[in-house]
Amino acid sequence: MNRKISSEDIATLKSVKSQISRLARLVGVQANSKKLTTEGDQRVDKSEKKVRGGTAKKMSSQDVSKDFLVGIDLGTSRSVLVGEDGTKVVVESIVGWPRDIIGIKVIGQAIMFGKEALAMRDSLEISRPLADGVIKEGKGRDQEAAEELLRHLVEQAGVPQGRNVCGVIGVPAKASLKSKELLMDIAQKCMRRVMLISEPFAVAYEQKKLSNSIVVDIGAGTTDLCAMKGRIPDDDHQLTINKAGNYVDGVLVEALKKQFPDASITSLLAKQLKEKHGTVSQPRSKIVTNLRVNGVKEAHDITDSMVYACSRIVPDIVEGIKQLLLTFDPEFEDEVLQNIILAGGMSQLEGLPAAIETAFKDFGIVKIQTVRTALYNGAEGALRLGMDIPVQHWDKIGFLDQDS
Ligand SMILES: Nc1ncnc2c1ncn2[C@@H]1O[C@H](COP(=O)(O)OP(=O)(O)OP(=O)(O)O)[C@@H](O)[C@H]1O
Ligand SMILES: [Mg+2]
Repeated sequence: MNRKISSEDIATLKSVKSQISRLARLVGVQANSKKLTTEGDQRVDKSEKKVRGGTAKKMSSQDVSKDFLVGIDLGTSRSVLVGEDGTKVVVESIVGWPRDIIGIKVIGQAIMFGKEALAMRDSLEISRPLADGVIKEGKGRDQEAAEELLRHLVEQAGVPQGRNVCGVIGVPAKASLKSKELLMDIAQKCMRRVMLISEPFAVAYEQKKLSNSIVVDIGAGTTDLCAMKGRIPDDDHQLTINKAGNYVDGVLVEALKKQFPDASITSLLAKQLKEKHGTVSQPRSKIVTNLRVNGVKEAHDITDSMVYACSRIVPDIVEGIKQLLLTFDPEFEDEVLQNIILAGGMSQLEGLPAAIETAFKDFGIVKIQTVRTALYNGAEGALRLGMDIPVQHWDKIGFLDQDS
């Protein structure tokens, strides 16, 4: 059907064009700024959960289309989806299938995800399909698990009937072309349109710190550092350190076993203790927790082991920031030092910003900021970018083209 082009249409086209060219120039933020919903002051439980609602974002021209936009952060430890209506879904990145007929009877379903799967792990064939933030390749049922996990996230988002899911997915800055293609293939099975973007870029985008800043994303498998220079980061401006949450868990297990040889210590317990008490500085009061000795719970002071284990990631992070700082022109260094952003689950360690600031005390004024919602920030940044670029232009943002 032919329709006259109105001045409104021309204005819309101009706005779209200017947004794209802005991104193409890889400069900051949105021309047609639409506020992404967050939960405002709502308390966010750190466990696996789905939060619906919050302050739903205002309807805009893009909403009346059939597309339903989501931002996704597939993590080694947890996967997060944030929907354009404010829905948030968090699932531990674990998939399980019943091992046998008894398992099917016990479980009563063909597949389980996240904490549920973990709780029933003895009856299940378990897959943790992501390693270092990318889908494991060529191993058992990991690819199938990754697809199921993605589908589960999307299903949990409760997308209104008749809407087509379009997702922006963060992948590690240094993901290989092969791993990005694999993710793209899988994602396209569950979504109408998919755009992949670099995870640290998503964090920086959400923080509106796309230039003269350094993002440090401390996850479970890796710590990813990225120097933001007003463009999509290339290989020389990114670093990956294989020390993050899992590494700290391992160090904590060893330290606790050494300190309390008779106590039962597992990696899962160490992770839970770290999430509750993790700190890189001496806390005001001792960290005392019950550990089982010959099955009996006894109080133990774990302060020293905790501080020791958590502190072990600090030197590498400091070294990484120093290396990336050198990639900026000297006249920008002051600004960069005041724009260091910590993200990822491990950024919640007590005392971490202060410890990094102390390490840079000879460099002048240093400001380390921790993102407000460590759990959702990557997915929120991905969604925000998706909302700023009309879906039909997503394929022009060529992160998939970059091979690292
Ligand atoms: N409150 C907390 N204090 C300290 N550590 C925490 C806290 N909450 C979560 N973590 C740790 O953060 C890590 C998970 O962070 P995140 O969800 O960012 O990782 P991921 O994205 O799954 O992993 P990756 O980025 O390596 O793929 C885990 O090691 C977890 O134990
Ligand atoms: Mg991550």
